[in-house]
Amino acid sequence: AERVIILTDPGQDQAAAILMMLGAPEVFEVLGLVATAGNIDLAHTLRNCLKLLELTGRTDIPVFAGCPRPILRPLVMAEHVHGPTGLDGPDLPEPRMSADPRHGVRFIIETILASPPDTITIVSLSPLTNLAMAIIEAPEITGRIRRVVAMAGAYFEVGNITPTAEFNVYVDPEAADVVLRAGLDLTLLPLDVTHKMLSTPQRLGAFAALGNRCGPALAEMLRFSEAFDLRKYGWEGAPLHGPCVPAYMMAPDIFSGRRINVSVETGSELTLGMTAADWWGITERPKNVFYVRDGDPVAYYHLLTHCVGRLP
Ligand code: BDR
Repeated sequence: AERVIILTDPGQDQAAAILMMLGAPEVFEVLGLVATAGNIDLAHTLRNCLKLLELTGRTDIPVFAGCPRPILRPLVMAEHVHGPTGLDGPDLPEPRMSADPRHGVRFIIETILASPPDTITIVSLSPLTNLAMAIIEAPEITGRIRRVVAMAGAYFEVGNITPTAEFNVYVDPEAADVVLRAGLDLTLLPLDVTHKMLSTPQRLGAFAALGNRCGPALAEMLRFSEAFDLRKYGWEGAPLHGPCVPAYMMAPDIFSGRRINVSVETGSELTLGMTAADWWGITERPKNVFYVRDGDPVAYYHLLTHCVGRLP
């Protein structure tokens, strides 16, 4: 199995991603969750991570608190989508375990340095603050990371928090900049692909019908968070962002993309956090990203439902 560290600010769609990975232990060995400030403040995202591990019965996985805010900017949150806890919807079990006292950035650095080169993958579902901080503190980790697969960015589908920026990049554009320039093996799952993965009533119904504890809980979470997007977009379902990362890792053939340059705007107030994707190779900038632009929603939901169905 691929050994992964998950960076996350759950967030119902990220809960779906975490459940998917825990439902596929032969593909993912989850070494730890690093809670990020993003959709909601760090205290809540940390608690939400613990709740998800309680729900899935995976209290053997450690949870670490990352940085409480982005590198330079005040935290912008998305309570309007995810609710005041960041993970509204069902009543999830109270966590009995507590977070590991080690800082999330230290956990990232120490895990990578203590492991053979090219054996640790970073799965980023959130703003990139903690990965960037780890790279700044210990630049030697970049050559040792197997790959980074991140839900971040938008180009063809433009923005979801401003007209031009995707939320995870907008929250901490400087962190995204550090990561984009680090010379990593980096794959991005931007809104361009997540906007094709719509949570239709039938697809959420399939989670609800799984007959376990996790499936119906996931359906209830997503019904809560999709309400905002359904009003906003007027589509038959809401984009389901987070699981695009593990789905891509499990089944790259159901996605398509290109190796291109992606650079992030950190100066302009108007377009802050915009990810300029050089899809047509217009510039000489280095190809730093595998940019996933399309995917098959039927296969995606099938895989996700299958994985969640394997949980308690
Ligand atoms: C991203 O923003 C957050 O609100 C979601 O959880 C996802 O990580 C999508 O732009």
